[in-house]
Amino acid sequence: MTTIRVPATSANLGPGFDSIGLALDLYLTVTIAEARSDWFIEHEMGAEVPSDKHNLIIKTALALIPDLEPHHLIMRSEIPLARGLGSSSSAIIAGIALADQLGDLDLTQYDMLQMAVKLEGHPDNVAPAIYGGFVTATYDDVEADAISAPFPAARALTFIPDTELLTSASRAVLPKQMPLRAAVATSSAANVLVAAVLRGDLELAGRMMERDQFHETYREKLVPHLEQIRDCARDHGACGTYLSGAGPTVISMVPTVEADEILEELEKLPLNGRWLNLAIAPAGLAIEK
Ligand code: HSE
Repeated sequence: MTTIRVPATSANLGPGFDSIGLALDLYLTVTIAEARSDWFIEHEMGAEVPSDKHNLIIKTALALIPDLEPHHLIMRSEIPLARGLGSSSSAIIAGIALADQLGDLDLTQYDMLQMAVKLEGHPDNVAPAIYGGFVTATYDDVEADAISAPFPAARALTFIPDTELLTSASRAVLPKQMPLRAAVATSSAANVLVAAVLRGDLELAGRMMERDQFHETYREKLVPHLEQIRDCARDHGACGTYLSGAGPTVISMVPTVEADEILEELEKLPLNGRWLNLAIAPAGLAIEK
């Protein structure tokens, strides 16, 4: 049996709106079992997630190869839905990998990126789900390009609220235009963030994660816990705190050696949700046969 494994992802990292992301050590796995007359995907995610050909994984595979032979699939996911941890991107990548395996497409990572970004609209979740590590990516509605690099030694202290926030709702609060000064300040912060990561400077990278004016400014009202976590994390030695993707998850990036101590303080905040202490996943999509 073939198993497809795709990591969760965290997009934006502050100023890298729609262009920077990283892979996290939390996974969606899909095992391809026997062929059958209709598609069926076995999972434990409840009625919210379809078990037939309307499931996003199968829908994505069928969008690439409409007459793909139906199979029984077994899905296990550690990635919560609608929380800003790339659950739909992981499903899209799993669907592309499913079509690749059953249809013998022999797709490269670059091919997968082109397909996935057309479905997702922006590359900052799909690219790290494919490549792993820290990824900077670009997409101009024609072609996507992405490059991955190792992230400095760090832990991602991840607060996942109990409540969902749909990406569409979180994008709806963003302005259509932006003052030039804010755009320059934010895009230059994203540039410094990338350079800092490449030089292994976690402290500088973390500072840049808090210099966004593209989206967090407008989304703050949807995620009041962002400032609360940021203030507490900063007081206890975190390098930087940002809204993961479109939210509502918030991540504080901290030095590995201080992670347990900082997490203990963050867990004292009166918030409804759970905390995870995650590693950055160095690898993206993996297919085991
Ligand atoms: N860059 C996207 C956003 C990620 O912030 O809306 C969520 O899909």
